[in-house]
Amino acid sequence: MAKFKGKRILVTSALPYSNGSLHCGHMLEYIQTDIFVRFLRLIGEDVLFVCADDTHGAPIEIKAAELGITPEKLIADVYKEHLQDFKDFLISFDNYYTTNSPENKYYSDLIFEKLKKNGLIYTKDIEVTYCEYCKRTLPDRYVKGRCPKCNAEEQYGDVCERCNAAYKTIDLIEPYCAICKNKPIRKTSKHYFFKLSQFSNKLESWLNKNKNLQPEVKHFVLNWIKNGLEDWNISRDGPYFGFKIPGEENKYYYVWLDAPIGYIASTDNYCKRHSLKTEDYWNNKNCKIYHFIGKDIVYFHLLFWPAILLGSGFQLPYHIPVHGFLTVNGEKMSKSRGTFFTARDFLSKHNAEHLRFYYAGMLSKRLSDIDLNFDDFRKKINNELAANIGNLCYRVLNFLNKNFYGEIKDIDKNKKLIHEINQKIKNIEKNYYELNFNEAVKDILHISSLGNKYFQDNGPWKLINEDKVKTHKILGLSANIVKNLSILIQPILPNFSLKLQNQLNVDNLKWQDINFELKNHKIGRDEILIEKAEEKEETKMEFPLNLKVAKILEVKEHPNADKLYILDIDLGNEKRQLVAGLKEHYLSDELKDKKIIAVTNLKYAKLRGVESQGMLLAGDDGANVGVLTADKSNVGDKVYIEGHENSAKEISFDEFLKIKLAVQNGKVYFENKELKTDKESVSVEKVKDGARVR
Ligand code: 2FM
Ligand code: ZN
Repeated sequence: MAKFKGKRILVTSALPYSNGSLHCGHMLEYIQTDIFVRFLRLIGEDVLFVCADDTHGAPIEIKAAELGITPEKLIADVYKEHLQDFKDFLISFDNYYTTNSPENKYYSDLIFEKLKKNGLIYTKDIEVTYCEYCKRTLPDRYVKGRCPKCNAEEQYGDVCERCNAAYKTIDLIEPYCAICKNKPIRKTSKHYFFKLSQFSNKLESWLNKNKNLQPEVKHFVLNWIKNGLEDWNISRDGPYFGFKIPGEENKYYYVWLDAPIGYIASTDNYCKRHSLKTEDYWNNKNCKIYHFIGKDIVYFHLLFWPAILLGSGFQLPYHIPVHGFLTVNGEKMSKSRGTFFTARDFLSKHNAEHLRFYYAGMLSKRLSDIDLNFDDFRKKINNELAANIGNLCYRVLNFLNKNFYGEIKDIDKNKKLIHEINQKIKNIEKNYYELNFNEAVKDILHISSLGNKYFQDNGPWKLINEDKVKTHKILGLSANIVKNLSILIQPILPNFSLKLQNQLNVDNLKWQDINFELKNHKIGRDEILIEKAEEKEETKMEFPLNLKVAKILEVKEHPNADKLYILDIDLGNEKRQLVAGLKEHYLSDELKDKKIIAVTNLKYAKLRGVESQGMLLAGDDGANVGVLTADKSNVGDKVYIEGHENSAKEISFDEFLKIKLAVQNGKVYFENKELKTDKESVSVEKVKDGARVR
């Protein structure tokens, strides 16, 4: 029966970064992978499922510095949170490890040395963007400025979000450091390059030969190759959180080099603890490696990674299933629209298995985006899961218990029904293997509908008065359908399956136990297993800012900047210090005692060496800058928008810049709703309509 006939299977999901919470988009991939792995285990394949936190890189180092903790502490905290989320979504890794591990250091050095020995690595001086204030080379995402093509403001150093132009950080107009806002300089620095360009032919032939890769994925990867591959910079200057390059003082492996090596390291860590051999997974033609990934990291997994494997003598992946992005109610997840759901947010309102069921119903082997639409979600849970499968299980077991002391004796020999179900079961098996979970779900629901129809048509509640023996047999066949469903759906709903098998008084059933032979058996207590998905206000709008009325107590000069003031402000329950670029627009006396609007949930940041504990809001129409005020309100009063809740979450400056506040008639609006306190609407000084607020 097994498709892999004695072969081993190693399965991975992409390693999530250690700098933030998992969200429902991440969960799409972990659930997809987990369903596949659980199915393989159930059918008796020899499968190992490994993953890890992706702990290295500049963002992690910078975030830790901002929080005033070590990167090690940050990644340890995030690791705990991730583990809990995975557990609660029933993701059954055999090993969940970290890339900041001795095994990963070992394999990273090993692979680096092999590549070097094989003449695949060279060094070259390149120009980098360097911040003299922060004393660091700035990665793409930490340099901002105007797009060199379309002049759009506030663009990152790699690609313009408005016109999509790709460029180098050094091309940005009026570049500034995203951390301290100062102008960076250019510098040359030696870097290590991997000769990716030499692998065009080998990659091409691997892509062409591999029968499993999705055609749409193959197609665009082959196109990239056709357009020419460039060698790949695999080093980064310190300060960096990662592994030092052997023989170097201040250079590290780029995180994207050691991250996929983390797949090997996690396998190794597992093997060591289970008397297994890592080579049996990574250097063994009898092992099939599956990497599940999202479409945003195809370049890394279908070009860099296979080239690194080829160059260092490891075997290539058997399949790299790529899934699309998750949208919520048809749009990209968005904090300001209230549609950004962390895994935890989801669990606070819904059941993890409901999400597993919903995703399974949408996932196929094709690369398509998936929409989490909450109306549709409720419909599927209530009409398919609860009203169809849940209903069948409950009515059958309950009837058996009420009328036959829970005993299954004989089974109705309804050949036609059994044959039809067996056909469906074959399809389900094939579709699980081929990652067409949507088709598997359809057929499972179909079997359940057949069961419901069979029960309904026979009307056992009436028949029992006429022919008790026949009724008992009908219940016997019905109970066998329920038993089979408990196995068929187990990869998707492991907890439901477990509880259902408990009620059936059977245990640990495998795929091979799918049959119609459960008889002379007494079941256990029945219970309703599927709760309905209730109407919840999932998308209750969140106003991403936590704004308060504050009074300026004191205005001081900034020691290192001509344009900045340091303001001491009173927020009612606390005092804070803000750094504000108001010197060209206000005399210090004009500001003192003014009631302004402060953003209190902005990450603290140093501006030219002085900490700013939030910021004040001001309108800017290009010519004038005027602060937002609320004279009649009390210090500490909440500033909000009707129907929205102020966010309690901390936001970064970049996130802040994405929030569009606009001035109309001297008032301030967010998505056409006015900013106000309980006493008045917020006003703005000096600027005209259309001004931007920052
Ligand atoms: O894109 C990401 O979230 C990366 N952390 C994925 C890494 S997968 C693997 F290559 F390590
Ligand atoms: Zn800087």
